[in-house]
Amino acid sequence: MADAKTAELMEKIVSLCKRRGFIFQSSEIYGGLNGFWDYGPLGAELKRNIKDAWWRSMTLLREDVVGLEASIIMHPRIWEASGHTSTFSDLMVDCLLTKKRFRADQVEPQNGVVYFYSGATDGGADKESKDSFSVLLPPGKPPESARKVARQFYQQRGVENAVLVGERTEPAQNTIRYNPENGSLLTDPRPFNLMLKTYVGPVESEDNKSYLRPETAQAIFVQFKNVLEVSRQKIPFGICQIGKAFRNEINPRNYTFRSREFEQMELEYFIRPDEAVEAIHGSVAKPSGPGHPGEPQPNWGWQLWHQYWVEERFAFYERIGLPRTSLVEYWQKQDELAHYARATVDILYKFPFSKRDDKGELMGEELEGVAARSDFDLSQHQRFSGKSMAVFDEELKTAWPKVAEEKKAELSKRYFETRRNYLVKTGESAEKGEKQAREDADGLAKGYYIPHVIEPSAGVDRLALALICNAYSEDEAPDDKGKMETRVAMRFHPRIAPTKVAVFPLLKNKPELVKKAREVLELLRPHMNAFYDEAGAIGRRYRRQDEAGTPFGVTIDFDTLGEKGPELKDTVTLRERDTMKQERVKISELAPALLARIR
Ligand code: GAP
Repeated sequence: MADAKTAELMEKIVSLCKRRGFIFQSSEIYGGLNGFWDYGPLGAELKRNIKDAWWRSMTLLREDVVGLEASIIMHPRIWEASGHTSTFSDLMVDCLLTKKRFRADQVEPQNGVVYFYSGATDGGADKESKDSFSVLLPPGKPPESARKVARQFYQQRGVENAVLVGERTEPAQNTIRYNPENGSLLTDPRPFNLMLKTYVGPVESEDNKSYLRPETAQAIFVQFKNVLEVSRQKIPFGICQIGKAFRNEINPRNYTFRSREFEQMELEYFIRPDEAVEAIHGSVAKPSGPGHPGEPQPNWGWQLWHQYWVEERFAFYERIGLPRTSLVEYWQKQDELAHYARATVDILYKFPFSKRDDKGELMGEELEGVAARSDFDLSQHQRFSGKSMAVFDEELKTAWPKVAEEKKAELSKRYFETRRNYLVKTGESAEKGEKQAREDADGLAKGYYIPHVIEPSAGVDRLALALICNAYSEDEAPDDKGKMETRVAMRFHPRIAPTKVAVFPLLKNKPELVKKAREVLELLRPHMNAFYDEAGAIGRRYRRQDEAGTPFGVTIDFDTLGEKGPELKDTVTLRERDTMKQERVKISELAPALLARIR
């Protein structure tokens, strides 16, 4: 349950986001649509900057990652292969009274007394219900309120003047069987598939059923072979993608944090199986401690690659302004991991609405997961499509004959066993699994394997919300008359700020100032998102840009025109949002000075 301070802070953030045009409710004039959001002018720029920064760091600045842009609707068999059709579900419960739906794991545990009823009659006894029902009465509430809820339940079943039958009570502790909002009993939990369905073509039949993708990752796996062929990459290498994903979340909540339509930024980084690394290099390097393991090395196995990507991702977040102290590195426990995953690190951000631990510290909510997914995904698509997902590795083929016989046997056995375990676990018969795994192990000796994958998977919208929460600050600043007032500033890192610089003529009724300011604006515009504002007192204009998160303000005043002497001619005041410090900068040096700070 959010405390009052958190709720107040979130209210302020939500209100600023609407007022300044970061985020609007989708379809607002029709009452909104739960779980869907629109980004206004500043929000659109912020999201674009996030995606550009990610794309730049993932692919433009690397030689070993290429991009992909796949369709949102794909062949429905993909979701069978990936497991989404059968297992991509949350347990849900419904309130028996209001029909409101909850995710079973999100119902708060409660204490109280449960009032049980075996049915109800209406005074004249010609209508009755024998449905049993119960209500949780929280401590301090009168029994009559439980009875009121029970009567409403039976009234909905046609017993108008419900007289309750068979009342008995029992104390309850930490129960999650009751609606925290009204005490009504909830239904038993049942799975609810989160994929949004649609039909492709004019006929709404089972055969034409398809899904809006619940993640962008699967497209990367199914296009793996095509990309490998055209990109002249070889293992290890990655394919990254940014795009929309859709999930019919039972309870969209915490503003944009859990939405039904959102964007993901995903990288699938394909690596050699450890057995291949060992055959080529004699051994597999293991992590020597926490922290960034440095430049990738050919003898890295999955553990070092996983550690590398976890650290790369933390470094990315720090570069765009999320301090390491605002982030949490959460290692999923063995029982939380998917059966095929070897390790998953969730990168959490301490959102104001995150739960707190025993010490009162924010525990954080997931921004990104970095998963070591073995060769599960490509293997699944190989089985379901019948198309080989194996790669040929010349280095492995050359190295294998030189490996000692004992080592060969050990590596083959290990590879065979992992392949067999995967195949049997995913439904192959023991006999078929054994046969296929034997062929796979023979393939390894000839230089063939299905690559393993490390997957850093992040959400654009969650990151935008984290950056917004992180940027929100209140301090004191003088108003136009020198009186101190509360100043709200969005302290975005200049790299990510929606607008980089605002240009102001000191006075709007002085054509020379306006002309010069327009000139400065045009000088900056080709290099960065620049904004022009001439309306109102200069202090007010600064304040508006502080709220919009613009890191720099440039004011053109009479000194710029040379009215106080030639030494200040063609200089401007450059104001920095966070410190509010002002410096005098030559117009000719303005663009490089700003570029150095926003890149
Ligand atoms: N391919 C792996 C995958 O999709 P995930 O943990 O389900 O993993 C990855 O999703 C990221 O996508 C999350 O860390 C989160 O940032 C974002 N995400 C997932 N569901 C979301 C939702 N309902 N609303 C907003 N972002 C979501």
